[in-house]
Amino acid sequence: MHPRPCTTALRDVRWPASAEVSPPPDGTVLVCCALLGGEGRDFAQAARVLSAEERQRAGRFLTGEPRRRYVVSRLVLRRILGACLGVAPDQVRIESNMLGKPQLAGGERIDFNLAHSGDLLLVAVARAIRVGVDVERIRPLNDAQAIARRFFSPHEADWLQERQDAERDRAFFRLWTRKEAVLKATGEGISSGLDTISVLGADGTFPDTVRRRGAGVEEAVWALIELEPANGFVGALACPAQARPVELRRVCLDA
Ligand SMILES: CC(C)(COP(=O)(O)OP(=O)(O)OC[C@H]1O[C@@H](n2cnc3c(N)ncnc32)[C@H](O)[C@@H]1OP(=O)(O)O)[C@@H](O)C(=O)NCCC(=O)NCCS
Repeated sequence: MHPRPCTTALRDVRWPASAEVSPPPDGTVLVCCALLGGEGRDFAQAARVLSAEERQRAGRFLTGEPRRRYVVSRLVLRRILGACLGVAPDQVRIESNMLGKPQLAGGERIDFNLAHSGDLLLVAVARAIRVGVDVERIRPLNDAQAIARRFFSPHEADWLQERQDAERDRAFFRLWTRKEAVLKATGEGISSGLDTISVLGADGTFPDTVRRRGAGVEEAVWALIELEPANGFVGALACPAQARPVELRRVCLDA
């Protein structure tokens, strides 16, 4: 989903700040957030860290702001992955699998996933554990009910319709991000159908785990962890059920 640009202030961010990222210990998932909208960042220097392919992709954005956000998001991703691998950010080699999921080249055992909404970026990273992450800025959608009827299960769409106006937007994005996080963990992406995965129990509560098989990924039980990196945003992390704990950090871009 591509919401209109918004500006998120540092005071809205709920996670503790870290000047440096430490590699997550085995069994731990590190989830970092970063604000992409800051002024005064050395954009040209950031762009130099990117690969030729990333620079080419940046050049395809028609306007400056999406291009700038893409470049900064790749810089943040490369800093985090570089810290995990013990290499400089420009030495991190990223490729995409057949379904478009970015991954480290060369069979590295670190998995990562990223999501952005507005000017907020989330990056989840873990060693030898598949991860999927999604985040959305909570906002009113004129056609939320129609989207729910099309992309959610009948039970989920009915449940959403029964919510009070004040909680419906958040409820919509809680469902959406949970589904997308699982489909990103398996690498399928949402083209395999948000309606093919159910994230709402019969009693209207959100289960902590879901079972899912992905393209080339064996059936597994995925833990679903709700994320609230900043006021006005909701997200979800999907990781194997046995992965614990989860560390939440804000990456300081100017450090
Ligand atoms: C990829 C997809 C999940 C992104 O959803 P979105 O809500 O628009 O965007 P988000 O911010 O949540 O996530 C975007 C990130 O997901 C990652 N991503 C892309 N494909 C992915 C996949 N199959 N599985 C997991 N993650 C994926 C990328 O890192 C992307 O960020 P980047 O483009 O800046 O590198 C969604 O567009 C999709 O499923 N598309 C269908 C698959 C597709 O078209 N693949 C294209 C290449 S074949």
